[in-house]
Amino acid sequence: MRIPICERLLCCAEQVRKGSRVADIGCDHGYLGIWLIKNGIADYVIASDLREQPLQKAIENSRLFGTDDRMEFHVADGLTAVSPERVDTVICAGMGGDCIAHILEEAPWVKDPKYTLILQPQTSGNDLRRYLGEQGYSIEAEHLVQDGGFLYFTIKARYGEGRPLSPGEQYLSKQLLSCGSELLPAYFDRVINALTKTVEGIRRSKKEHEKLSYYETALHELLEMRDGYDRTEHP
Ligand SMILES: C[S@@+](CC[C@H](N)C(=O)[O-])C[C@H]1O[C@@H](n2cnc3c(N)ncnc32)[C@H](O)[C@@H]1O
Repeated sequence: MRIPICERLLCCAEQVRKGSRVADIGCDHGYLGIWLIKNGIADYVIASDLREQPLQKAIENSRLFGTDDRMEFHVADGLTAVSPERVDTVICAGMGGDCIAHILEEAPWVKDPKYTLILQPQTSGNDLRRYLGEQGYSIEAEHLVQDGGFLYFTIKARYGEGRPLSPGEQYLSKQLLSCGSELLPAYFDRVINALTKTVEGIRRSKKEHEKLSYYETALHELLEMRDGYDRTEHP
């Protein structure tokens, strides 16, 4: 029986090192953890969700695929049910970037280079990257993936050697710029269009906006990055 895992979650799964002990926060149906175990990537998975209903579904799915002896389930907010010594990898996928930042903020023990963080924000990716940089996390790699007509990115991060990112880097990190994906032009278009609309909207309204200069700087940096990208050969 095929595990019905989507391309977006597969992209997260591909960042997990073999032999990892994983916490999947916001596990919903549980397919990511089930896939990691069935494919011999994770030794075990702690699957946690804020809501009872998805967690019950994850338990059922895990039984169905025969992974329940190597999975543990919790109804919990963020990482509150996870003992730091039991995992080395934390995955937060399919939530807003601000929600993921909040989950990390509430679990100070992840501020240790021994933990690999695999993060896939659905929205507010810039806020998540800003948070990571300000808190001293470094982004090791980013990947782009297309799923159901949408573009998503995954961030692999770890505590240590991080630095505050510029507004442009918060929208498109150096690691994403160097990921070599053929989806990068589409990602550039999406971010530049969104920032252009935001900046034009604020300027048209003629009202003071505390973040106007932030958006203008981000847009300016993105246009420069795009120019550099277009002038480089890509395989
Ligand atoms: C859109 S689903 C994503 C599920 C799966 N991770 C994925 O990427 O397909 C988001 C899940 O996160 C859960 N969630 C939201 N906030 C959470 C929190 N603070 N702690 C744990 N789970 C949370 C929701 O209940 C929901 O099941």
